[in-house]
Amino acid sequence: MKNNKSKFKHTANLLIALAALFLYGCAPEKPAPIGPASSQEIAAGNAENGRKLFMGYIHFQNEGPPCMGCHSVGDNGLLGGGALGPDLTNVSAQMSQSELLIILANYGFTNSPVMEPIYNQHPLTESEQADLIAFLNASTGEPAEDKELIVIGISILATAFTAMAIGFIYRKRLRNVRAAMVSKAEKELL
Ligand code: HEC
Repeated sequence: MKNNKSKFKHTANLLIALAALFLYGCAPEKPAPIGPASSQEIAAGNAENGRKLFMGYIHFQNEGPPCMGCHSVGDNGLLGGGALGPDLTNVSAQMSQSELLIILANYGFTNSPVMEPIYNQHPLTESEQADLIAFLNASTGEPAEDKELIVIGISILATAFTAMAIGFIYRKRLRNVRAAMVSKAEKELL
């Protein structure tokens, strides 16, 4: 009798184990972890798509922030991109493709300490990495936008406009003051 009971226990354990294995097999497949883009993927990178991703015209699949929040490239956008990160116009000439990939795929020791924590939370997919690299390659040698000149130009225009507005507002007042002084002087003289 005792023997029978333990046999039953064994069978039950075996069934539970089988059921667990079955359920595990049925679990929805996890998305494959993202790694660096392969050289084939990079070769197939789409620069135009990369530009849209960079500028934020289309969103990254894992909702990372668009690169232009911190970087500018060539003369993209009216005032270019942000200035927290370096201008990336010629980055492809300055860094090897594998160094670029290390930054975009977020692994290795040349990570950007600013970008790393952000894109660790929101990793770029392999095709996004490839498209961005294609875009950065295509931008090499583009004339970088002269942001300083634009800013100076806008300041000059704004100053001129303010001066004109103040002049317009005070024109009448000045005229009245002058008229009062002239009439007072005339009275004193006469
Ligand atoms: C939150 C701001 C920020 C965002 C967003 C950002 N970066 Fe950066 N990036 C930086 C900073 C800052 C550096 C300089 C290294 C550092 O201090 O971490 C840098 C460095 C780089 C470099 C190396 C440049 C060099 O000359 O060493 C590359 C390439 C780069 N970023 C590409 C990108 C791309 C592509 C994106 C979009 C997927 C992006 N970055 C998004 C801030 C940012």
